[in-house]
Amino acid sequence: MGACKYFISLAFLFIAFSCVLSRTIFLELNNPTSEELSFLKKYGYLPEPQGEFDFAYTPHSVSEAVRKMQAFAGLPQTGVLDSSTRKLFKKRRCGVKDIENKPTRNRRYILQEGWDKKYITYRVLNGSSTLPKHRVESLMAEALAIWAPHGGLHFTRLDDGNADIQVSFAREDHGDGFPFDGPGHVVAHAFQPPHGAMHFDDDELWGENLDDDEEDVTDFFAVAVHEIGHALGLSHSDVKASVMYPYYQVPVEKLHLDDILGMQELYQKDEVSQEEAASTESPARSSLVPRFTKADSYEDENEIPDLCYTNYDTIQAIQGKIFVFEEEWMWVIRDKQIEEGFPRRFHEVFIGLPKHVNVIKAIYERNNGNIVVFSGRKYWEFNRAFRLVKVGQLNDYSIPRYVPELTTVFLSNYNNKTYLIEYERFWRFDKATGKMDRGYPKEMSAWRKVPYPVDAALIWQGDTFFFRGPRFWRFDNALVEAHRYYPLPTAPLWLPCDPAPGMEPYFANDEP
Ligand SMILES: *[C@@H]1O[C@H](CO)[C@@H](O)[C@H](O)[C@H]1NC(C)=O
Ligand SMILES: *[C@@H]1O[C@H](CO)[C@@H](O)[C@H](O)[C@H]1NC(C)=O
Ligand SMILES: [Zn+2]
Ligand SMILES: [Zn+2]
Repeated sequence: MGACKYFISLAFLFIAFSCVLSRTIFLELNNPTSEELSFLKKYGYLPEPQGEFDFAYTPHSVSEAVRKMQAFAGLPQTGVLDSSTRKLFKKRRCGVKDIENKPTRNRRYILQEGWDKKYITYRVLNGSSTLPKHRVESLMAEALAIWAPHGGLHFTRLDDGNADIQVSFAREDHGDGFPFDGPGHVVAHAFQPPHGAMHFDDDELWGENLDDDEEDVTDFFAVAVHEIGHALGLSHSDVKASVMYPYYQVPVEKLHLDDILGMQELYQKDEVSQEEAASTESPARSSLVPRFTKADSYEDENEIPDLCYTNYDTIQAIQGKIFVFEEEWMWVIRDKQIEEGFPRRFHEVFIGLPKHVNVIKAIYERNNGNIVVFSGRKYWEFNRAFRLVKVGQLNDYSIPRYVPELTTVFLSNYNNKTYLIEYERFWRFDKATGKMDRGYPKEMSAWRKVPYPVDAALIWQGDTFFFRGPRFWRFDNALVEAHRYYPLPTAPLWLPCDPAPGMEPYFANDEP
């Protein structure tokens, strides 16, 4: 009984049906200490208890948490607290969570946002005993300069008043609910916009120009570059070479591609999608120049593209109808007739889709009838009545962080799996289990005789169709290649477009 009590207090709110059972499994895990359990909670690997005794940690959930922590740190995922895993608990690191716990079903995701402006001020309130304020200011300026070009940002130092990013040194409890922990382990933390504060633990010995991992001294510049990432809106990365990796690493000289992609997602969404719009319209892609191009539309924004003479941003089967998207417009087609009220601007239909989403390229209908719109690394999920029910990240579909966006998504009727397509490769996700299937991504060339990148893929009356430019292909699941009579022109066969002389080049059955 004594031992049992001991275990319960050690494991904080650990409740199991049998203390004997839990003890055996904990022995296998080499007994996580209360510090180790609170580490797992603090960084988001174990869910926070929802009120007292509401939540019970089982040996299984602890082992899963250890596995997640190992995955994030790049260690073998054994789920067991071996010595290299235990070292992580002691390592110097940032105090910000690694994993944001998913909120309950009805609550929306807390969105990751950057600053909504390009000119950002910062102010250094004080220095530490080993690093005077003027050195901190100069190192901050250098560290900010590393980030600035990737968001098109400009930083200005203020000497007094309220700045967007306030930098200070503090120790133990310093009034923000996230007390520091004395020397070692947590060395700093920072808050995302619009808060933006950066706090450094004054119980560390701060130094500069440390190339090696010196145990006693912590390199201010290396930590500052990381914390600025948070103050600009980034979260932790499991890419070890990235600046946003949560554990202390020196030296830091430049950003990793993973950090840069994170910045682009936060600050260059519009620029990126415009560049892409330009590149998808390039003549190299298709010898057929659509009659209505993005360049033309620039002159008269109210002009609606001609449905019969254009490429399509995407096409999808939703609610048994064909939805066509081009520029900011959408058409809904049933029995080759345009539904009343269309074309409409898709922003009038998908209320809640942010304005910076100025083109829809990937959209699909889930088994439960919800409709998901993708843009960049985010998605917006709408119910059948087109009401926004959820905002999420591609991480929810297990798409790796280095993928900046998807170009097409469809749900297969054949195996009930979600196919997520980037330009030249695709992933297969099982929504039922919430897991990515093994062996992905695969090359698009696996779908033989289907050209890529594709603009759209959909299931219609049991068949899979791919669309690119003005043409489409039917896929033969048995032969695993496009049916030999394809491609065929999209407009006259799917849309209310009578074949006309001007359309002839679109009938040609030779893909350029
Ligand atoms: C630095 O400023 C912060 C914020 O005003 C304060 O909490 C902290 O005690 C100061 N630290 C030192 C070493 O003076
Ligand atoms: C596909 O999976 C969903 C649950 O995710 C289920 O409701 C549906 O019946 C399944 N359909 C097929 C064809 O297996
Ligand atoms: Zn951090
Ligand atoms: Zn703080």
